[in-house]
Amino acid sequence: MFLVFPDPEQIGSYVGQLLVKQIKEKPNSVLGLATGSTMLPVYAAFIKQVKQASLDLSGITTYNLDEYIGLAPEHDQSYHFFMQDNLFKHLNIKPEQTHLPNGQASDMDAEGKTYSRQLQAAHIDVQLLGIGTNGHIGFNEPGTPFDSITHVIELTENTRKDNSRFFDDVSEMPTTAITMGMADIMSAKQVVLVITGEHKAQVVADLFNSSVNEQMPASLLKKHPNSLMIIDEAAAKLIPASACQHVAA
Ligand code: F6R
Repeated sequence: MFLVFPDPEQIGSYVGQLLVKQIKEKPNSVLGLATGSTMLPVYAAFIKQVKQASLDLSGITTYNLDEYIGLAPEHDQSYHFFMQDNLFKHLNIKPEQTHLPNGQASDMDAEGKTYSRQLQAAHIDVQLLGIGTNGHIGFNEPGTPFDSITHVIELTENTRKDNSRFFDDVSEMPTTAITMGMADIMSAKQVVLVITGEHKAQVVADLFNSSVNEQMPASLLKKHPNSLMIIDEAAAKLIPASACQHVAA
């Protein structure tokens, strides 16, 4: 079942409140964070709500899903930069509270294993996720084994095309990334998948119609004991009404 909201702003407000509630109930919450356009209204709402509630974030810890390989944290298209720019710098979240895979590690295999060990020890309370038009979550492209931990992935042409909009020139866009694996994502206590926009309507339909299989990475979330799939009206266009629970504004 998909929770359907009128627009991305109302989703932002709902997911922001979900995070605020989580942190109020458990001040040392561990949050799994995503980047990408989908998260912008979520982070904007969360920042506003945290300020309004004067919420203390000093106890939280965050772990991000992924990072491009080869981009320095200062590069304006790196996910380190995205998180700083769109979330961390607006709130009192110290660098030592935040974690992203290191896309410049000299030994990527070791980096992946270390990151997964950290995730296991931290045990994420709520993992935010967006989805690629090919069904990827994190950067787990179609075909990624469901038992994967944090690893290096070669980005598909589809993902490179989708994300090249952020780069001045597509040739600047990295061809590889390091991403939490499917098993890492599934070990979060709750997963919250957010999908917005008409350009995601087809992948919502694919996800709805798909069995749980590695060619549609997000399908594994159907097996998660505590998952929310939140979409807007535009993304809901190609699925039957019976699959939608509309949430009034
Ligand atoms: C980002 C991530 C990706 C994005 C997905 C959707 O950290 O892991 O899976 O969530 O590519 O990106 P947008 O939101 O830009 O459409």
